[in-house]
Amino acid sequence: MSRKKIAVLVSGGGTNLQALIDAQGRGEIVNGEITAVISSAPEVYALERAAKAGIPGYVLDRKSYPSSQAMTVALVEKLRELSIDVVVMAGFMTIVTKELFEVYENAIINIHPALIPSFAGPGCFGLHVHEKALACGVKVSGATVHFVTEECDAGPIILQKAVDVLPDDTPETLQRRIMEQCEWKLLPQAVSLFCQDRLKVEGRTVKILDV
Ligand code: GRF
Repeated sequence: MSRKKIAVLVSGGGTNLQALIDAQGRGEIVNGEITAVISSAPEVYALERAAKAGIPGYVLDRKSYPSSQAMTVALVEKLRELSIDVVVMAGFMTIVTKELFEVYENAIINIHPALIPSFAGPGCFGLHVHEKALACGVKVSGATVHFVTEECDAGPIILQKAVDVLPDDTPETLQRRIMEQCEWKLLPQAVSLFCQDRLKVEGRTVKILDV
């Protein structure tokens, strides 16, 4: 089994990227290595995290492309040039088009800060997700790691983890608890499983194979 090259796509602070870097440092990304961090905007803190970890960072500034499609084509070209095997979206806030899904079918992984299919789909990003969860009065929320398909937040689910919603939660406190207890753990786990060829997609279901 060849060692997988991982590209992490970011747009902001990069705490999920940091969780992946830390997991890699502990030897928890089995059979894989983060070889590129690609940002959709210049000067984001995630690029600093990459530089500190000695990982090459690249900027494909969304603003310098006329359309999402033009940016996606440039992204695919970059990923191919770098021989990337798996694409991880970690707080990547830019819309991508079918050109990416065609080349990386069942090889694009995203983290969403809710239990999909709840609080997911167009418009559900950032703090909005947690505002909606609190407005609905749910008693649990959490995070989902899933494969990315053309339909927003609807690809096969790899891992999910729940946390309790507390009576005095604000969108900010809920967001933080979900990041700490769910996102930062699930994303490295899912990436490691992928790199070991242990994720088998059957329709909408992902089977996790034993070692
Ligand atoms: C996370 O909540 C992630 O679930 C969502 O965007 C946020 C990114 O945070 N997709 P960070 O850039 O990883 O800190």
